[in-house]
Amino acid sequence: MAITVLNHPLASDLLTILRNEQTNPPEFRQIAERLGYLLVAEALSDMRTDPVEISTPLEAMTGQQLHRPVVAVAVLRAGLGLLHSVLTLVPDAAIGFAGVQRNEETAEPMEYYTKFPDLDSARVLILEPMLATGGSLSWAIDKVKENGAKDVTAICVVVAPEGVKFIEEHHPDVRIVAASLDRELNPNFYIAPGLGDMGDRLFGTV
Ligand code: URA
Repeated sequence: MAITVLNHPLASDLLTILRNEQTNPPEFRQIAERLGYLLVAEALSDMRTDPVEISTPLEAMTGQQLHRPVVAVAVLRAGLGLLHSVLTLVPDAAIGFAGVQRNEETAEPMEYYTKFPDLDSARVLILEPMLATGGSLSWAIDKVKENGAKDVTAICVVVAPEGVKFIEEHHPDVRIVAASLDRELNPNFYIAPGLGDMGDRLFGTV
C-alpha cells in the first residue's frame, strides 16, 4: 500500500481553514469541495489515458482521454463532502454509497446501507475524509471488493497513523491519498489535531 500526502501550498491553505473551529458549515462545505479537487486530481494521477482522434481548429491530432469507468463511493455521511469534487472533475463517474455508523464506545463500524454501481473494471475512489481507527474504511473496502472492485483508492482529508497502519495490514493493495497525516488518535478516537467531526462540521449537527 502507498500513502500519498498532498504537498501543495493550496492544500495546506484549504486544510487550515477546515481545521479552524471558527469556520462555519457553509464555508466548510465550500472549502472541503475545493480541497477535494486537489485530492481527486492526485487520486487519478496514475490513471491510464486512451488515445482519441480529434481535430483542433488548425489540424487533426491524437489527444488523450481518461480511461473509464470511474466510480466514487461516498462513506456516509462525511464522504458526501467530497462527492461534488469527483462529479465536477469526472461528470460521468458512477456513484455508490456505503452507510456505516461508528459505535461511539467501541469505534467499531456498524453497517446500515450500501448501494453500488458496477465496480468490476472501474477505478473505485472511496471517499472517507477522516481515517481514524481504519475500521470504517476497511469495512467499506471489504464491501467494494466483495462487489467486484479490483482497483481501489481511498481519498481522505486527514489520516491518523493508527488508521493508516490498519489499512496497510488489511488492504495492502489500496492506495490512500490524503491532505494530512496527523499526530495521533485521542482516547475518544478523534484525530488530533484533526478538524473535529467532519459530518458535524459539514452539516451543522452537534
Ligand atoms: N471522524 C471524524 O469526523 N473526525 C475524527 O477526528 C475521527 C473520525
